[in-house]
Amino acid sequence: MLSLVYLSSATRPFSQPELDALLDKSRTNNTRDDISGILVYRDGDFLQVLEGPEDKVRAAFARINRDDRHNRVMVLDESNIDERAFGDWSMGFRRVKRGEPQDGFVDFFGAGFDEATARARGKDVYQYLLSFRSIGG
Ligand SMILES: Cc1cc2nc3c(=O)[nH]c(=O)nc-3n(C[C@H](O)[C@H](O)[C@H](O)COP(=O)(O)O)c2cc1C
Repeated sequence: MLSLVYLSSATRPFSQPELDALLDKSRTNNTRDDISGILVYRDGDFLQVLEGPEDKVRAAFARINRDDRHNRVMVLDESNIDERAFGDWSMGFRRVKRGEPQDGFVDFFGAGFDEATARARGKDVYQYLLSFRSIGG
């Protein structure tokens, strides 16, 4: 299976109903496609993990990448995995506030943002996302 982590910026801020609709759609599609993962939203930035059969994950990511509700889509980590980390969730969700202690976004959208640095920190971002497993989707 493939695990893919990306970071993106919403083209404009999402309201809660818009996030709910996005999640509904994602959960329906991901259940169909045997994909699990988590989506984290903070102040217009998204971090998402998609995990599942490689062809399904790549197809979902291709759709997501084309979605004009966000841009600056940047893959931070791709790993082959034997077991799912987010198997309980067709798409978990957490909304975090800027400045929350485990703020994994901070280094990526701050000054000096660049893709090489972000990718080099991909495994750290993955660890950050794993930390949400214990606090629910
Ligand atoms: C931040 C973000 C995360 C998304 N996550 C998923 C996802 O996990 N699964 C999915 O199928 N679509 C996801 N989408 C929606 C896709 O971009 C696309 O609108 C959808 O897959 C189209 O589904 P449809 O062909 O069934 O209409 C996401 C979109 C955004 C902006």
